[in-house]
Amino acid sequence: MSKKEDLTSSEKRDSFTSKTGFILACIGSAVGLGNIWLFPYRVGQFGGAAFLIPYIIFIVLLGYTGLMGEFAFGRMSQTGPIGSFKMALETKNKKWGGFLGIIPVFGAFGIAVGYAVVVGWFIRFLVGFITGSAISSADSGAYFGQIAGPFGSIIWHLIALIIVTIVLISGVSKGIEKMNKIMMPAFYVLFVVLVVKVLTLDGAVDGLKYLVFPEWSCLLSPKTWIYALGQAFFSLSLAGSGMIVYGSYLKRDVDIISSAKNTVIFDTLGAFLAGLIIIPAVFAFGLDPAAGPPLLFITIPSVFKLMPFGRLFGIIFFVSVLFASITSLMNLLEVPIEAVQNTFKLSRKLSVAIVVIAAFLIGLFVENGDVLGSWMDFVSIYIIPLGAFIAAVMFFWVIGIERAKSEIECGSEKKLGKLFEISAKYVFVFLTIFVLIAGILLGGIG
Ligand code: PHE
Repeated sequence: MSKKEDLTSSEKRDSFTSKTGFILACIGSAVGLGNIWLFPYRVGQFGGAAFLIPYIIFIVLLGYTGLMGEFAFGRMSQTGPIGSFKMALETKNKKWGGFLGIIPVFGAFGIAVGYAVVVGWFIRFLVGFITGSAISSADSGAYFGQIAGPFGSIIWHLIALIIVTIVLISGVSKGIEKMNKIMMPAFYVLFVVLVVKVLTLDGAVDGLKYLVFPEWSCLLSPKTWIYALGQAFFSLSLAGSGMIVYGSYLKRDVDIISSAKNTVIFDTLGAFLAGLIIIPAVFAFGLDPAAGPPLLFITIPSVFKLMPFGRLFGIIFFVSVLFASITSLMNLLEVPIEAVQNTFKLSRKLSVAIVVIAAFLIGLFVENGDVLGSWMDFVSIYIIPLGAFIAAVMFFWVIGIERAKSEIECGSEKKLGKLFEISAKYVFVFLTIFVLIAGILLGGIG
């Protein structure tokens, strides 16, 4: 063993201990607010089952190109976007790659800041259902208004960040991997329980009709395709950040092609289950399936208020959405943590502390519901697609498609065909720019 290898092994970068652990962590990142509070609404808005056609086309295409690319890029460079982009541009004797890498790090951090506030709300609602206050309040709108008002949830926001801090300080294998292995299977089991409960409610059929009745004419509208693309993009966490970082903790014998396939399948399943719970439940009680915070924090609590055993099912619901969102938050925070740890050569504990404290302090300014919406829009419209675009160019063009291909194939029995080269180098890169421009023009599509 050379001296250099010796040195890196003695510093020892933490890693996922198994393929299953890695896949569950990626599913944990992918399944989040995008699946739960955006997907069901979009399906209803853009033609029910007809929307699923472009959605599935895009999610498969993005999984086959962008997702595999981000995993392999991280695994190749053994570091996050800053180190990866630096490495890529150094092959062309350019030195500013690390600087570009700051963009996706800020993207992930920006989303994390807002996500932490929402996770705090979930904890608040879970406690509200346990104590019964969320169900006994006469007006669900006013109940939420108080929580989402200025500084209405500092303590819950703090609790959310303390929970993830404990997990993140424990590291990748002992923290992130372990928690995902518990939370993600539990999420699916609990969501299936809720689907069964909701579909047995009187009137749930109307919601089911709204959800699955295909309005084929919607497929003729470009907007259906654009929103399906944005949805698939955000849902797979394609941002040149989180998936690169998780890939950087991956061993070379793990099959990236099959990991990406599993992430796509389970992410889509998570979205479908969310749709099957939320829309029929809302219809069963004659409520309106609006988008965003009001759906989860006003409409859904009203549903549980009216449903037999609503308090119990409310608890189950908020436990599962808490699991789904906390596992995304871990991934989002891991990006800046890895960057701080690696760039400044700090200890893991100190890096976690710096990032979490910064996220909390900035989060105080976005705790208010309206500010939160604008903040999340800004980051997800401008920074997230830009990060995905730069990462794709770095890997598929600067590192080069041949090397990219062999990095993805490493550890897999399958080989990628010619179709992959075209899809990754041209189609995917084009789609990342398209998402950026369409997002700016339409005020957000993810
Ligand atoms: N995919 C997550 C969701 O659906 C959001 C996310 C985006 C997470 C980018 C990590 C990185 O909510």
